[in-house]
Amino acid sequence: MYNMIATSLQERIINRIEAQGALTFADYMRMALYEPGYGYYVKDAARVGWEGDFYTSTDVSDFFAHCMGRKLVQMWKQLGQPAPFIVLEQGAGRGNLARGVRSWTAHEAPDLHSILEYHAEDIGTGHDALQTSQEVSNQQAPHVILSNELVDAFPVHLVEKRDDTLHEVYVTLDGGRLREALGEPSSPEVATYLNTYNIPWQTFADGWRAEVNLDAQRWMQRTAHLFTTASTDRRGFLLTIDYGDEAAKLYIPDRQRGTLACYYRHQLTERPLTRPGEQDITAHVNFTALIQEGERQGLHLESFGTQEQWLKQMGIQDELALIRERDFAILDTDRGSDRGQVALFQWYNLRQQVSALTDPHGMGNFKVLILSI
Ligand SMILES: C[S@@+](CC[C@H](N)C(=O)[O-])C[C@H]1O[C@@H](n2cnc3c(N)ncnc32)[C@H](O)[C@@H]1O
Repeated sequence: MYNMIATSLQERIINRIEAQGALTFADYMRMALYEPGYGYYVKDAARVGWEGDFYTSTDVSDFFAHCMGRKLVQMWKQLGQPAPFIVLEQGAGRGNLARGVRSWTAHEAPDLHSILEYHAEDIGTGHDALQTSQEVSNQQAPHVILSNELVDAFPVHLVEKRDDTLHEVYVTLDGGRLREALGEPSSPEVATYLNTYNIPWQTFADGWRAEVNLDAQRWMQRTAHLFTTASTDRRGFLLTIDYGDEAAKLYIPDRQRGTLACYYRHQLTERPLTRPGEQDITAHVNFTALIQEGERQGLHLESFGTQEQWLKQMGIQDELALIRERDFAILDTDRGSDRGQVALFQWYNLRQQVSALTDPHGMGNFKVLILSI
């Protein structure tokens, strides 16, 4: 059944190419991820988590949600403690972060908990963050809009430098099979994107590739608009976390083949044209583009840094130290006992969770962007 569905997505893609000609890689990726009933994110199987194809910070540990809880308390206070306090999480997946935040506020911030309205939305449940009219905006504008690993899923155009020219990668057919072909950029936005960020791609080697995420900019326009649709003087925060970097650090000669990556059952693959609909396809986020588009929409840059820095600012180490003192005194008094050995194992496990979230070569290198209005 599963394979039958995947095969028919491939057939749909092939039919579309036969009818309309080559697709941009972005149109291909849109079908692979979002085609109603078939795309990776919109069919019903579990994708995120240990049993899926990849896992995220929210799967690794509740410490992540606790830091988010502390951040929300801070933002709530900065906004003058509005009630209700409306948080919209986009691309919330299975709702781990929402659950973790709610259970943290219930214990640690009951005054916020009692007025917190946390809406967790995902394209899998019919809420496309790239479409404007969300239910929340019809009611009351959110105070905070959150996302973790959302923007890296948006369809990207691919460009390749060859013979001093920038080409776009298209998906076409060869003997009934999908294959890549180079052509002219599909729009002026694609053609000029790298120049907008002063990337000297002309000096890079032939075959150098980069992703152009125009939907990230559209998302920023729409999301910024959510703050203002229902209220004219709304103040609020947008917080988004993802793989990626500033443009000047992302589009470098050493990254010869760009950052496009596919995940299938926790394996990294570099074959986006195989298994459409069965594997995740992502690309690192150009945060300069998000910041500049946000500013164009009237938002202000509050902070931009790594997840490691952010989690430390939000007290992840302090929480760990507190837990050590509160729950693991036995490690100082009776480590050799059976209970002591179990406690030691649990303590190592907690320390390991914090290391994984803050590892500068792993999740700690995610970027955290906060904008305000
Ligand atoms: C990598 S997962 C992250 C899930 C969750 N935020 C977490 O941290 O575990 C990406 C999520 O974004 C969702 N998604 C992708 N594109 C979306 C879109 N255009 N609108 C809303 N959700 C989207 C997917 O369905 C998936 O649940």
